[in-house]
Amino acid sequence: MLLGVNIDHVATLRNARGGVEPDTIRAAEVCELNGATSITTHLREDRRHIKDSDVRTLIHTLKTNLNLEMAVTDEMQKIALEIKPHSVCLVPEKRQEITTEGGLDVAGQLDKITNFVKPLKDAGILVSLFIDPTEVQVKASAATGAQFIEMHTGQYSEKFGTPDEEAEFLKLKNSAILAQSLGLKVNAGHGLNYQNVHRMHEIPDLYELNIGHSIISRAIFVGLPQAVQEMKELVK
Ligand code: PXP
Repeated sequence: MLLGVNIDHVATLRNARGGVEPDTIRAAEVCELNGATSITTHLREDRRHIKDSDVRTLIHTLKTNLNLEMAVTDEMQKIALEIKPHSVCLVPEKRQEITTEGGLDVAGQLDKITNFVKPLKDAGILVSLFIDPTEVQVKASAATGAQFIEMHTGQYSEKFGTPDEEAEFLKLKNSAILAQSLGLKVNAGHGLNYQNVHRMHEIPDLYELNIGHSIISRAIFVGLPQAVQEMKELVK
């Protein structure tokens, strides 16, 4: 499995003082040097962490791939078509949420998402849909023409170590198998950490994990190079 590192929290820390430290571009470089195979950033509508200038610089400085998380809005589609990241991951976005709370309701807005995906794909950008691991969302995602899904692992992570872990894990495993049978490649992310990530190896052919909070949190104690290396070791 590949490891994509989400660097949004580096930008959150930077923005806390309104200055330039810690440098998000340098953080991305350190993640790449220590095993990240892509860098993920979520350009939110309210720009609470990553800013347009971060994304516009990263697209030139990254040695690996930029995975741009974004909402299904005209503004974000325009930005993606202009900067052409390697991939985009379409996520739901609510202003008041602390982080992305649930998956994108692809089944409930199939035409809208299908129309949104097409120009991105036509521009050569890989499109991933961040969805809850359910049959209805997987089937709808395949119908949009997107090449990837990213399964929301938030519920699995929350229930890890409890009696409900197995049920949440099986939703992920079954959804991945279904998605692959429909021709989709499968990523996963949200809430994964050094304790719970190992079960992702029980899911066949997962392509990439996108992990942010646990790596940046561990970096406070052991440094970013070691935090990325340790996660890479668990993921590879
Ligand atoms: N994938 C997606 C689509 C996300 O929105 C997030 C959170 O920004 C992540 C992965 C990473 O989640 P975490 O920070 O909990 O590792």
